[in-house]
Amino acid sequence: MPAEVALNHPVSSPLTARRAGPLTGSVRVPGDKSISHRALIFGALTVGETGISGLLEGEDVLNTGHAMRALGALVERTGEGAWRVHGVGVGGFRQPQGMLDFGNSGTGCRLVMGAVAGCPITATFDGDASLRNRPMQRIVDPITQIGARVINANEGGRLPLTLAGARDPIPIVYRTPVPSAQIKSAVLLAGLAAPGETTVIESEASRDHTERLLTHFGATVTVAPEGEHGRKITVQGEPELAPAPVVVPADPSSAAFPMLAALLVPGSEIILTDVMTNPLRTGLITTLREMGADIEALTIRSDVGEEMADFRVRTSALRGVDVPAARAPSMIDEYPILAIAAAFAEGTTRMRGLKELRVKESDRLAATADMLRVNGVTAEIEADDLIVHGCGNVPGGGLVATHMDHRIVMSALVMGLASDKPVTVDDAAFIATSFPGFASLMRSLGADLY
Ligand code: S3P
Repeated sequence: MPAEVALNHPVSSPLTARRAGPLTGSVRVPGDKSISHRALIFGALTVGETGISGLLEGEDVLNTGHAMRALGALVERTGEGAWRVHGVGVGGFRQPQGMLDFGNSGTGCRLVMGAVAGCPITATFDGDASLRNRPMQRIVDPITQIGARVINANEGGRLPLTLAGARDPIPIVYRTPVPSAQIKSAVLLAGLAAPGETTVIESEASRDHTERLLTHFGATVTVAPEGEHGRKITVQGEPELAPAPVVVPADPSSAAFPMLAALLVPGSEIILTDVMTNPLRTGLITTLREMGADIEALTIRSDVGEEMADFRVRTSALRGVDVPAARAPSMIDEYPILAIAAAFAEGTTRMRGLKELRVKESDRLAATADMLRVNGVTAEIEADDLIVHGCGNVPGGGLVATHMDHRIVMSALVMGLASDKPVTVDDAAFIATSFPGFASLMRSLGADLY
């Protein structure tokens, strides 16, 4: 078991990136965050023991592991990235002692709220200052329809929030107000404990790891198209989920950082191995290729319901593009790093339909624009669009305010690897939420971080 997770980061730790020689080498970034959360939660809902390999041992996921333990599952680390979960079965969570602290993680918190909503227990959910600021009403709305009750919450349904799960959960049909895998997953998890069918309708398809992994554990999940880009997902309630091994592929959202560094630092060529290529996660690669990026998939293979590939990435001259709003769900976490690509590109890039970025770990739309501006890049926000005027190089030299947001931290550091002057982030500690070992992995490729 790794050291207890630091839920707060009282001492800020600045980090600086500066231009160095070409990046070379082959690396595997840590396991996918979305699948890692789900492997722990769904493993806890099985009857029996699930072995997980390649689990992301970042703070967000470790907090979900702590929560599963508090709710009665046995969660043990058996080696590097190797974990064992002994589940309590659907509806079998026990009353936790003390509150469940999810630190910085919206995914862990919201999915577990869904899973708790179908159990006759009361639990208090809390997190760090960033998570306390994020909207939870989007989860509270459907789970109260299922029969859960909010006993206590901060203004607007924010954390800390005490939830009484439903004694007799009711199956519902729910149309998500925004394309969100977290909302969809919370409803499907609550629906597992209800008799009959629970259905989620989304107008734009969001990442489908919950559907795939629930099926892997033996649940009956049906997926049908809905409108032009949407889906209708139905789960059959009260299944007995059976344990099944989970192999977690490398996280495409983490691979995005060394990928961009290699594209931007002159003369680079790197290999990224085992990167998950679920089409609902690859919007960044599609966009970068439109910008002229040389990203080649070498081998493609499939494991436990998810495809992955090794990618070769070579330095490329990028050009500005127009990124349609419909692509946002497939690259929702990648806009800060795409904005860095846009800053180094020739011409203007317009990223459309980014309203959801305002409610991520920070107001990511504002934080991304600020990150660029303090480094001499011209960027504007027009309604929900981000517009970046690239001119082929970035002056740099700025101090970036990271607002407790891991993706802003790593994006800013990638910018500093290719900008004229070094770039400093005010607090690199939040990298640990999703990408432990980021600095050493980047240094192993030749990056200069100090
Ligand atoms: C996630 C869904 C996305 C994403 C987050 C992980 C998930 O959030 O931003 O990092 O694992 O379900 P939304 O569902 O709120 O868009």
